[in-house]
Amino acid sequence: MEKPKYHLYCTKCGNEISDFGEWFSMGQKCTCGCARAEIRYFADYSRLGELLEGSADGLFHYFDFLPLNERRHAVTLREGTVPLEEWKYLEDIALRQYGLRISVFVSRSDLSGGTGTFKDPAAALGASLFREWGVKGYCLASTGNSATAFSRYLAEAGVPFTVFMPCDVNPDSVEVIRSHGSSVVISEGGYGAAKQEAAAFSASTGTLMTAGNIDPIRVESKRTLVFEYLRQLHRMPDVYIQAVAGGTAPLALDKGVRELASECGGTVRVAGQDIPVTLPRMILAQQDTCDPMVQAWEKNTADGFPSGWEKDYPSVTPRTRISILTAGTPGNYPLVAPIVRRSGGAFVRVSEDSLPALAREVLREQGIIPGPASMVCIAGFLKALEQGLLHEGDVVSVNMGEGSARAGWFREIVGEGC
Ligand SMILES: Cc1ncc(COP(=O)(O)O)c(C=O)c1O
Ligand SMILES: [Zn+2]
Repeated sequence: MEKPKYHLYCTKCGNEISDFGEWFSMGQKCTCGCARAEIRYFADYSRLGELLEGSADGLFHYFDFLPLNERRHAVTLREGTVPLEEWKYLEDIALRQYGLRISVFVSRSDLSGGTGTFKDPAAALGASLFREWGVKGYCLASTGNSATAFSRYLAEAGVPFTVFMPCDVNPDSVEVIRSHGSSVVISEGGYGAAKQEAAAFSASTGTLMTAGNIDPIRVESKRTLVFEYLRQLHRMPDVYIQAVAGGTAPLALDKGVRELASECGGTVRVAGQDIPVTLPRMILAQQDTCDPMVQAWEKNTADGFPSGWEKDYPSVTPRTRISILTAGTPGNYPLVAPIVRRSGGAFVRVSEDSLPALAREVLREQGIIPGPASMVCIAGFLKALEQGLLHEGDVVSVNMGEGSARAGWFREIVGEGC
């Protein structure tokens, strides 16, 4: 028999699941009930370095290190491997206002193929796996970006897709998703209600549903960020900043770093150099109108991180207009917060009211209007400076995210003040 490319392993009991075909047939849950599995590849990691020199044209540049058996199943729109942009104006703010010499590299999802969102790599891998394993339909609850990305990629793969969205969803997103031929069900309630409706639909129709932020499809695709840092910067950044709702990317970065620690001793040889692969200090931002992780972090810090601290988090009712950042109950905090702590990072709160003025500054300096969630990330960078969380010489990665194409309301507010 041919050697397998990968297996999944239950993170709770260690049970081995041979491939995604088996994982899907198990309802994406181990026999012990755990829905979180991690992938281990039987790849030749000594060849990873070759992929980290030169150009890349999308997620499947890393095919040998992705859980897809056959390249012909890949569904790709050249997603995820966009050039990191050095934003001098943010470096100048650090120098002028705080006397810090740092480098700032911004990831712009709007330059990515697919739908220009944070979620394109996950949708590309998902669509490819569904094609590989003959999955006949997929559903999820989403506040916007996942639905947009999956609708585009599943249309490419010919897999019927049903999405459940909260009542306050951005109408621009709904229009785009429907234009891809997907079914959209708008709930009378919020994101929580949409999730319940999606779960009920999945159970009654047997339609496969995303496992959420811990879904190995999401985590494995997103961990290619580690490869991208090594390819583009020839080093890991010292600091990683993003706006957070569920927290897939922090989980994925951590998986990628642990994987390279166990498979290649924590260094990768690129262009004749041994590059250490370490976890950047993670600074995760939330807007003050939906900030349960920041509230939890502040309390945990004040309490001195007592045993079980990570399970102590509140639920809040979101009062935000940023529909993709509305996770009022941060169910992943127990997984994400220990990674943030271990990395030496922090959660920071930014003001939603401050975002339009900051977006005008980005427009002036960089010639683009980022989406509102992306502005939470930029505001998070400024907050990190203000709170002394950035240090002399830091290489800072700002994982900004999508543009404002599907957030007409935000463009309007930004435009009014110009
Ligand atoms: C720009 C941007 N920032 C942050 C997030 C939140 O990501 P997560 O839910 O994985 O924390 C999203 C989600 O789509 C996003 O588009
Ligand atoms: Zn298990």
